[in-house]
Amino acid sequence: MIPLPRRKFLRAIAAFGGASFCLPRVRLLAQTHAHTGITTSAVTGLAPFVDALRIPPVLKPKIVNKVDTYSLTMQSGMSKCHRDLPATEIWGYNGIFPGPTIVATKNRAVSIKQTNNLPMAHDGGEMTHMLPAVHLHGALVEPGSDGHPNDGIAFGGGTRDYLYPNQQRACSLWYHDHTHGMTGERVMKGLAGLYLLRDPSVEAPLKLPSGTREIPLIIQDRSFAANGQFIYNLDDATLEMGFQGDNILVNGVVQPFLAVETALYRFRILNGSNSRIYKLALSNGDPLIQIGTDGGLLQRPKELASLEIAPSERCDIIIDFTKLPVGAKIVLENLNGTDSTAQIMRFDVAKRVTESKSIPEFLQPWEELPEQKSVILRQFNLARQTLNGALTWTINGYAYNSANPPLAKPVIETIEHWNFVNPTNHPHPMHLHLVQFQIVNINGVPQEASEFGWKDTFVVPPASEVTFLIKFSGYTGRYVFHCHNLEHEDFAMMGEFEVLPKS
Ligand code: C2O
Ligand code: CU
Ligand code: CU
Repeated sequence: MIPLPRRKFLRAIAAFGGASFCLPRVRLLAQTHAHTGITTSAVTGLAPFVDALRIPPVLKPKIVNKVDTYSLTMQSGMSKCHRDLPATEIWGYNGIFPGPTIVATKNRAVSIKQTNNLPMAHDGGEMTHMLPAVHLHGALVEPGSDGHPNDGIAFGGGTRDYLYPNQQRACSLWYHDHTHGMTGERVMKGLAGLYLLRDPSVEAPLKLPSGTREIPLIIQDRSFAANGQFIYNLDDATLEMGFQGDNILVNGVVQPFLAVETALYRFRILNGSNSRIYKLALSNGDPLIQIGTDGGLLQRPKELASLEIAPSERCDIIIDFTKLPVGAKIVLENLNGTDSTAQIMRFDVAKRVTESKSIPEFLQPWEELPEQKSVILRQFNLARQTLNGALTWTINGYAYNSANPPLAKPVIETIEHWNFVNPTNHPHPMHLHLVQFQIVNINGVPQEASEFGWKDTFVVPPASEVTFLIKFSGYTGRYVFHCHNLEHEDFAMMGEFEVLPKS
């Protein structure tokens, strides 16, 4: 084993420190692994960088009355995740893992008919709350197309049509399962895919890397049984920490490699993991050049030595391979990981070419929400507490139940401050449906919102508070907001807000 660099060693110490809150000292050493919540694979030591990166297929729409129309089927399938593993049974949109990519264009509607042909588990006794709903994360859509957990699709060929108007800034969205109480398990099984919303009027003049040099990277962690099947086990540690696998996959493949040319590449990165937070960095010390966030392009590119990405966050980055020699091999590292989780994938410089593009200095004007126009400051307390005899995750004392009253009722076209207070010792990546928001305050310190860009998911760190500035527009009705650590969401750190019409 390679000795840990000092920063990783310190991190490991910090993890032990956290554990001592919950476990008596003597049990600590024996149970560290359990307490970290990492699900241990039966297969260890899978060789990294032996499989090529796969790119999920982009679907071609049928055009019906100027609407790009698709139909997707949720079904099981077999997927090869590593050269040395037997194929894994997955649940995927169109039976593939990850699902196919949808490419949409601003102001051009997309309609997706989703059919549920998933195998029926539990002896066919699927109850209402176990019906899968499909959510397009980051989208400005009316409530009926938002994948509310009450709007699940029946097993045995049930369908639902989702309409996405795409009247929002170009950005990377993703669609994923939103079954109440089972989102974690079903996303882990593979029910997730990318949805890229483009705006040629903004993006074309920038001449960003495109075609074979614009590559989606969906980063997820999984654990494998000896027969190659995914392991998902909701033990106490997993319920507390969220599911964490001990293998890192990109686009469904364990630690793949990608052959690159000496050129600029644009990577559309999604952390599609249930709970793992990655800290991305390049092994040769070159920077990651961030150009976009959840809600689209930043104002200007940012050169970063490392970049932290929590579940459901997206980052749009450029990597400059132009100065590297053919034969160079650069690892995309996870500085938060150890052993098999410290390396994500490898870029192998395979061919010399002359790059004619350059990174633009300016990307997109920043539209700052006027903070002084905010009509209310709402407080949301995030907690782990016992309700009705069960340990659960709560927001303002509520575990999610669609019968609960909404936790907030913003009026359409108004701006609000939402302050999330996290006294727990876990990070909570908080997500609101419907909106993209701005980060204006962390632990009492005012923030430069443009540095964070438009966000729909943002981590509230342990023992911290973060204030989002949010404008509610587009649609009235009920939407959910929740922690995007999927086991926290399922058990049951989620609430609803209802956007009211102007009175
Ligand atoms: Cu991606 Cu309700 O979330
Ligand atoms: Cu969402
Ligand atoms: Cu959480």
